Amino acid sequence: MNMIQTLDDLRRSVEACTACKLAPTRTNVVFGVGNPASRVMLVGEGPGANEDLQGEPFVGRAGILLDKMLLAAGFSRQENVYIANMVKCRPPQNRDPAPDEIEACIGYLRSQVRIIRPKAIVCLGRVAAQALIAPDFRVTRQHGEFFLKNGTWMMGTFHPAALLRSAENKPAAFADLLALRDKMEALAQKEG
Ligand code: URA
Repeated sequence: MNMIQTLDDLRRSVEACTACKLAPTRTNVVFGVGNPASRVMLVGEGPGANEDLQGEPFVGRAGILLDKMLLAAGFSRQENVYIANMVKCRPPQNRDPAPDEIEACIGYLRSQVRIIRPKAIVCLGRVAAQALIAPDFRVTRQHGEFFLKNGTWMMGTFHPAALLRSAENKPAAFADLLALRDKMEALAQKEG
């Protein structure tokens, strides 16, 4: 018997999930998108209305901005990043996912990380950064800093939806993506 869970097996489990109160109101599970062989994983907060309808992360206005910024830094969901969220089902009225919802869902994200084995994980916004890096993480103060956790480099940056509201943070957010590019190049060189 093959004991190695694939991303497709995992997707099927998540699609059948009823572990929290977000399940009954979802249109689609938003599992993740991108190249599973990527060395970089991006983690957002949770699906919004467009993502819930299409079953793919970051497809609304925030996603368009994210894709543009990624592309300018040499990354894309078609080629070299994998994108997922802290919770796989849409929180109603786009509220933040509640701690119990994150708790119910985080095992799926951990399994995604185990399967994809990224070298770096970028947390998009406070919710992901506080869950994955440090509970007191402050995006405005600590964005762009790399933390090594269990052999994986972690970084927090601005959520693209926050950048739509506060455009003055776009240069800093883009600088974070350039720092990510440099980090990945340095890691690749070290590997030889
Ligand atoms: N915001 C997120 O955090 N994730 C998405 O997939 C879309 C918007």
